[in-house]
Amino acid sequence: MAATLMRGKPLADRIRARVADEVAAIGHIGLVTVLVGDDPASEVYIRLKHKAATEAGFEAVDLRLSAETTEEALLTRVAELNASDDVDAILVQLPLPGHIDEEKVIRAVTPAKDVDGFHPLNAGELYLGRPALVPATPRGVMALLEKHGVHLEGAPAVMVGRSDIVGKPMAHLLLQANATVTICHSRTRNLAEHTLAAEVLIVAAGRAGLVSAEMVREGGIVVDVGMNRTDDGLVGDVDPAALERASLMTPVPGGVGPMTIACLLENAVRCARYRRKELDYPG
Ligand code: GUN
Repeated sequence: MAATLMRGKPLADRIRARVADEVAAIGHIGLVTVLVGDDPASEVYIRLKHKAATEAGFEAVDLRLSAETTEEALLTRVAELNASDDVDAILVQLPLPGHIDEEKVIRAVTPAKDVDGFHPLNAGELYLGRPALVPATPRGVMALLEKHGVHLEGAPAVMVGRSDIVGKPMAHLLLQANATVTICHSRTRNLAEHTLAAEVLIVAAGRAGLVSAEMVREGGIVVDVGMNRTDDGLVGDVDPAALERASLMTPVPGGVGPMTIACLLENAVRCARYRRKELDYPG
């Protein structure tokens, strides 16, 4: 079997067009991204997010702070953004430089402006099955699966990776869709035993080629969230040879990546609706 590719761009383009209409209807929506330091991968992500936000009509502010910025100075900036009437949505790009406590910064963002959905309050609402602001990448994966008619009810779904940004929220969304969820990680014994049982396999481990073709179930559905820069260019966590065994599989690049950006913009509209009381923020 050769897999059908689940491309992200067509669906992401549709979402971005709808978001642009919503932004136009609402009027001003302010999105501020904060990048501390000059990590090249983060710069690429921020540039893509800005381009998309600006194209959709957001008032997007690209705040750049030097790598020497103190934790206190960053927390002060975040407090200013929280208080600003011009700002609906705040995104602090991760990772932050080592001298800054990421958790402190994540907790400092007002939950209703937390466009990434990383604040413990948003994480908690998701955990309790009352999603408010949900991290963009897992939302993008769910949208892709839905578009391709993937049936999750009761299905064995395996999440490889347990990050706060992808693995954990993804597992919760799958659970809410009534999948039978297994979370695997770097300490998992016999990873292949789990991946081979997966009707739906989602990999976000950040290790190029971690999942070989032999680890994919015949006819399985594979979502590769990995984005690894290697000598061979940008590659995922799943060996592309798995295309021969899967029934549906995301390409890298061009799979999940475009969906993350589109869903981030959707979240920013949600933030704007919270601030305008068109939606009730649960917190
Ligand atoms: N670093 C890697 N992915 C993300 C993301 O989705 N949001 C933020 N803020 N930082 C990231």
